[in-house]
Amino acid sequence: MRLSILSASCAALAFAETLPVPLGLDAYVPAPASNPMTREKVELGRALFFFRGLSRDGTLSCGGCHLPERAFTDGKPGAVGVRGQVSSRRTPPLLNRAWGKSFFWDGRAATLEAQVLQPILNPKEMDLTLEEIRQRVRAEETIHRRMKQVFGREAENEDIALALASYVRTILSGDSPYDRFVAGDRTALSPQQQLGLRLFRGKANCVACHVGPQFSDERFHNTGTAWRNGEFVDAGRAAVSQEQADRGAFRTPGLREVAGAAPYMHDGSLQTLEEVVDFYDEGGRENPERDAEMNELKLTMEEKRALVEFLKSLSGKVSEGWPEAR
Ligand code: HEC
Ligand code: HEC
Repeated sequence: MRLSILSASCAALAFAETLPVPLGLDAYVPAPASNPMTREKVELGRALFFFRGLSRDGTLSCGGCHLPERAFTDGKPGAVGVRGQVSSRRTPPLLNRAWGKSFFWDGRAATLEAQVLQPILNPKEMDLTLEEIRQRVRAEETIHRRMKQVFGREAENEDIALALASYVRTILSGDSPYDRFVAGDRTALSPQQQLGLRLFRGKANCVACHVGPQFSDERFHNTGTAWRNGEFVDAGRAAVSQEQADRGAFRTPGLREVAGAAPYMHDGSLQTLEEVVDFYDEGGRENPERDAEMNELKLTMEEKRALVEFLKSLSGKVSEGWPEAR
C-alpha cells in the first residue's frame, strides 16, 4: 500500500512541467511567482516574439533584431528600428536572461515583465502606442485565440508582457566545451584554451566582473568604451542612478556564445574578440570614472591568443521555447 502511494507520487514528479536545462546552468529556470512558466504561455510568447504586427509598418518583430541564429543579436553596431532608424546602442544577446538582475545596457528595467513592451513603444524601434499594441494583437486571429486560452480574457497589454517575458526566460545557452570541462571532461578544452581559462581567472583578471555561470556579476562598470575625445558620449548607468561615478558604466554582459555575437560592447565599437582582448590589455580607455579593476595587463601574444580561444569555448547549444509543445 505504502509502496504504491510512493510510486504514484514519483510518477507525478516525473511528469511535472519543467523546462529542460542544458549542462552548466542551474537546474531550474527562475520565474517570478506572479508569472509562472507554462508551455502554453511560453509558446504564445514565442509567437508574439516573431509577430511583425507589433511594429508600426509591420516589418519588424522582436526576432528581427534578436536573431536566433546569431545568439539573439543582429551583427550590427547599432540596432536598426522602423524607417531605418539607427540606435546608438547595439542589440544585446538574449541568453540565460532568466537569471538577469536588471535589463538594458544601463539596467533601467528591473524585470523582464517591465522590459518587454518598451521596444514596442520606443519610437526608434517598433513605434506603437499602448492602445495600438492591444489592437494589433486582438486583430491577429490565431494569436488572439491563444491569448484568450492562456489568460481567459480579451488580450491586454499586461498579458502580452507576461507571455513575452516567459518566452525570453526560455532562451538558454549551455553545454559548451567549457561546461563539459568543468563537469570533468579534461579533454573538452584544448591546452591553449586551458591556458586561456587560467588567464581569465588570473593574470587577465576577467573574473573581477565576468563571474559565475553567466560570466556576469550583473553590476555596472566603466571600461572606457563611452569616453571619446574627452567626454562621455553615453551616460550609461548614470542616466538611471544620477551618480557621477556611474558615468560611462554599463552592465557586465554575459559571455555565452560570445564568439557568434560580434560586434562587441554596448555600441558595437569592437569588431572581433582579438580587438576586445587588445582593449583590455591596454587597461580599457582611461577616463575619470574608469573602474579600479581595469589595468594594463601586459599580455604576451601567446596569452592573448589563448584568451581568445578560451572565449570561443563558451559557445554551446542554444535552445528557445518549450520544444515538445510544437
Ligand atoms: C530595433 C531592434 C530591436 C527590436 C525590434 C527589439 N529589440 Fe530588444 N533590444 C534592442 C536593443 C538596442 C537593446 C538594448 C537597448 C539599451 O540598452 O538601451 C535591447 C534590449 C533588450 C533586452 C534586454 C536584454 C538585457 O540583457 O539587458 C530584452 C530582454 C529585449 N531587448 C527583448 C526584446 C523583445 C521582447 C522585443 C520585442 C517586443 C525586442 N527586444 C525588440 C534592440 C531591439
Ligand atoms: C571592470 C569589469 C570588467 C573586467 C575586469 C572585464 N570586463 Fe569585459 N566587460 C565589462 C563590461 C562592463 C562590458 C560592457 C562594456 C560596454 O558595453 O561598453 C564588457 C564587455 C566584454 C565583452 C563584450 C561582450 C559583448 O557582448 O559585447 C567581452 C568579450 C569581454 N568583456 C571580455 C572580457 C575579458 C576577456 C576580460 C579580461 C581580459 C574582461 N572582459 C574584463 C566588464 C569587465
